[in-house]
Amino acid sequence: MVSSRHNTSLSKKRNLLFLQKDPTRDIAFDVLRACLNHRYPLTDSLLRAVNNHQADPRDRAAAHRLAATTLRYFGTLRTVIEPFLHKEPPESVQIALIMGCTQLLYLDTPPHAAVNTIVSLLHRYHFSPFAGLANAVLRKIATAGRSLLKNLDQPRLNIPPWLWRSWSMIGTDVPRAIATTLCHEAPLDITLRPNLLNTILLDTMLESGGMLLPNGSLRFSADTVVTQLPNYAEGAFWVQDVAASLPASLLSVQKGENVTDLCAAPGGKTAQLALTGANVTAIENNPARIAQLQDTIKRLQIAVNLIQADATTWNPDVLQDAILIDAPCSATGIARRHPDVLWTKRQSDITTLTLTQDRLIAAAKNMIRPGGRMIYTVCSLQKEEGPDRAKAAESMGFIPDPFTREELVFLPDALTPEGWLRTHPGLWQERGGMDGFFAARFIRKN
Ligand SMILES: C[S@@+](CC[C@H](N)C(=O)[O-])C[C@H]1O[C@@H](n2cnc3c(N)ncnc32)[C@H](O)[C@@H]1O
Repeated sequence: MVSSRHNTSLSKKRNLLFLQKDPTRDIAFDVLRACLNHRYPLTDSLLRAVNNHQADPRDRAAAHRLAATTLRYFGTLRTVIEPFLHKEPPESVQIALIMGCTQLLYLDTPPHAAVNTIVSLLHRYHFSPFAGLANAVLRKIATAGRSLLKNLDQPRLNIPPWLWRSWSMIGTDVPRAIATTLCHEAPLDITLRPNLLNTILLDTMLESGGMLLPNGSLRFSADTVVTQLPNYAEGAFWVQDVAASLPASLLSVQKGENVTDLCAAPGGKTAQLALTGANVTAIENNPARIAQLQDTIKRLQIAVNLIQADATTWNPDVLQDAILIDAPCSATGIARRHPDVLWTKRQSDITTLTLTQDRLIAAAKNMIRPGGRMIYTVCSLQKEEGPDRAKAAESMGFIPDPFTREELVFLPDALTPEGWLRTHPGLWQERGGMDGFFAARFIRKN
């Protein structure tokens, strides 16, 4: 009798323990289910989950790390777990198991914590019938440890086959080079206001751990808190991957020119254009992203004519000297910053995106003066969104204006035989790589 009462109170205590909140794991679980089951972007899902759980910044950072690491190694983790499952549990349970595996194999979480947190999570989310399975599987994985990763071709497993195949078209070694860099968090790159590049601020930045890249960008380690870098609030610089800084600079904008940035938010390229002294108009159709663009303009104190409009139908009052189209795209070139892209995008998304990309190119033609310049760019590694769209621009009457060796002297490997720019995370690998961008320049016929 005494012993049975004792047991009941023990099990009550255990149940209470299971129901205790664990915001880090709960947010990561919500985010991963949103990405993997519903193909929602990681950034949006994280924002929603953090609000739902009223999490503090520390939980948010830890949840982001857990979710992003899981997505980076998702292919490998799936392979590791498979032999331990005789029957496939529901998808959400598999995601919880994979999260546990991430903690054990990549995040150095102590084994008991890695196992217990997942068992508790399954109870909290009403998957109690699978708690025993999770306990058994994760204990076995904890015992075997990293030896389970031996003999696995992790880079290959971490990239979905359709993406691997498509990246081979850039070069046979390219998918592996990209996959290798995707395993690491991307560094933090910033662009300094041009007049500050040769001043005392540059020395301060270098003293703060920055590395000067050959194009003038500064690179910091991935864990750098950007707001804590010198003169952030004063607008001395903005966050921009080195590859992202190239298209706008290759438009060679001059002071006094009329220039339009057709897809502008959050505004890194708008800032580059505005700081040349050109009259810059920035078009953006997404209200939430307009707010980000306004923040950029305010912090950097740059003069920009900001217009909320659909760039496929908008028309300027005067024909423009130059147009930048940084088109919405699949974003496969920035997967190392947004690893969800690997698992949320499908080939069919690319086809849909190319329709918008073509509409933007066609619309730009009516905005440029004869002889004016246009750069089309995307942060995608997909042929359909890059080279195929450059050919589409030609068929719409734009004349190609190839980039030259001199313009890309610091990055000759990014210049294609056609005179296009093609960067990918495998370039400057020894310095930490770069995002994948495609860019092509054109002149409007007279
Ligand atoms: C690749 S992002 C631009 C990044 C930006 N150029 C930068 O460097 O910070 C593409 C942007 O285009 C916007 N966009 C998409 N379709 C648009 C349209 N039809 N008209 C205007 N903006 C559009 C998206 O909301 C998104 O903010």
